[in-house]
Amino acid sequence: MTRFARHIFICINERAEDHPRGCCTSKGGKEVAQALKLAAYGRGLKGVVRVNKSGCLDSCEFGVSAVVYPEAVWYRGITLADVDEIVDVHLVGGEVVERLRLPPSETRGA
Ligand code: FES
Repeated sequence: MTRFARHIFICINERAEDHPRGCCTSKGGKEVAQALKLAAYGRGLKGVVRVNKSGCLDSCEFGVSAVVYPEAVWYRGITLADVDEIVDVHLVGGEVVERLRLPPSETRGA
């Protein structure tokens, strides 16, 4: 028996301002992670969905990145304006937010 139905990992990696790959923290990763947690738990998902901050997910060039398991769906370019949609559509509804999806061909593990 699994402990959580889903995990979402949101990158909050931080790099120097002049780093060529940039980082998710400079693009709002920490704020997105906090908002996702509040929104998910506000919908009663605590204990059902685990919202975790993560280190670099190796998708730096695509903006704030996250991955949802067990589906292994990657999101990119997440802003605070996208948080409710990700929670409602994916974490609650089980459907992928296609407009924010990082194509499988762009994920390193594909
Ligand atoms: S710094 Fe966030 S994916 Fe690399």
